[in-house]
Amino acid sequence: MDRFEIKGGNRLAGRLTIKGSKNAALPLMCAVLLTDKPFVLRDVPELADLSNMERLLRELGVSVTREIAEDIDSPGGVLRMQTVDETLSHARYDIVRTMRASISTLGPMLARRGHARVSLPGGCAIGERPVDIHLRGLTALGADIIVDQGDIIAKVPLAHGKPGRLKGARVFLGGPFGSTVLGTANVMSAATLAEGTTIIECAACEPEIVDLANMLNAMGARITGHGSPRITIEGVRELKGVDHRVIADRIEAGTYMCAAAITAGDITLDNCPVDALMAHMDRLHHMGVTMQWDAKADPMRATCRIKASRLLKPIEVTTQPHPGFPTDLQAQLMAVLCLAEGNSVITERIFTERFLHVAELGRMGAQLYRQGSTVIVSGVRKLTPAPVMASDLRASACLILAGLAAEGNGPTVINRVYHLDRGYEKMELRLQSLGADVVRINEREEATLAPGVA
Ligand code: EPZ
Repeated sequence: MDRFEIKGGNRLAGRLTIKGSKNAALPLMCAVLLTDKPFVLRDVPELADLSNMERLLRELGVSVTREIAEDIDSPGGVLRMQTVDETLSHARYDIVRTMRASISTLGPMLARRGHARVSLPGGCAIGERPVDIHLRGLTALGADIIVDQGDIIAKVPLAHGKPGRLKGARVFLGGPFGSTVLGTANVMSAATLAEGTTIIECAACEPEIVDLANMLNAMGARITGHGSPRITIEGVRELKGVDHRVIADRIEAGTYMCAAAITAGDITLDNCPVDALMAHMDRLHHMGVTMQWDAKADPMRATCRIKASRLLKPIEVTTQPHPGFPTDLQAQLMAVLCLAEGNSVITERIFTERFLHVAELGRMGAQLYRQGSTVIVSGVRKLTPAPVMASDLRASACLILAGLAAEGNGPTVINRVYHLDRGYEKMELRLQSLGADVVRINEREEATLAPGVA
């Protein structure tokens, strides 16, 4: 396993290009299952989750070739894919358990092939991650779905002895925590090939859903209302191929904004989706961080300069579905608020257990008091280096941010950074380019290089 060692205290300064969005790319990749025509995605970053999705799609009969981006500062590489064998329709547990977004293959496979078998994704460090709303939505479109031996087995009923089609319907996708992003992606994708019109009520409004709908429309789908809680899809018989550029990653951008804030830095981000980050930028603004961008540029691919001083004001923040404050930036903002001048209040409304980073921040001298889904952050003058353990993707980013600011003897050591590689490409190199004193240590190499016992 790899670890990061960070010597904190440097003010970060410089320029970065934001990569294509992991959370957009995953359902976009699954849409290749809706057609047998050539399918190209651009601005695809090199991430463990996307490599796992490539592996899964190959098992589902898709040919995949990847062109790696030469320049570390490009938004990403190119994926060229095409469905070549539609007889392989089982997304097996040993891949699904590594990446729960595999569930996004269910809707597309079911809609085009008439059947699909997808292992139930387990829970993860941030919660149990149910998929009941996905199944509710696909059942509403006419699918017969059972769960057997840990697998979801979905079929479209035959029509007069021939393979049938899903049927358009009105579907409510609301749950106790609002809508579901991947559930909306699954049902919207499946509905593109259904017979008739589907109306999704309480649809997710996330930018990743808008990007998916825009790509599906470029493939010949007829989707309107995407970005609003009500999406309408008029089914078509088949979809064409596509050549699509993935939107920029709002969570990566928001994380590097936090890096500027926590180090009193001055960072310029290219390909920055400011239009998808208004809630996060509003909170940073109220903390005293300044952000400037060209209002005439594409607000999903702007150049944004973020500057901060040592003085950060405390705030209140509650995570909500988009356009509210994103749960995927909660841990990162908590790291910054540990150094604010006063008490902040963070409430997590999406994944109420998403606080594994709290105890680790406490090891670095943060003063945090959790009560259920709320954490009071009492600002301290400084954080101190310590060995800490990453538990999930965004908690890893949080601990790295804290390490960038921690001052004292020795480095902050963040163990299990394989979590980080799921969602941040080459983070140590990108932070080094901004002046951070961070190294990645490969523990296997370290063991082989260790001086042998005489
Ligand atoms: C997507 O996950 C993101 N992942 C998550 O990002 C993100 O945290 C989440 O949306 C919320 O914004 C990808 O896009 C790959 P949900 P998703 O279904 O779609 C409950 C990251 O760090 N729910 O919108 O799986 C669920 O338990 C990851 O990049 C049900 O109850 O999340 C949660 O409380 C982490 N039943 C809430 O809804 C369901 O059938 C939102 O979950 C589905 C979800």
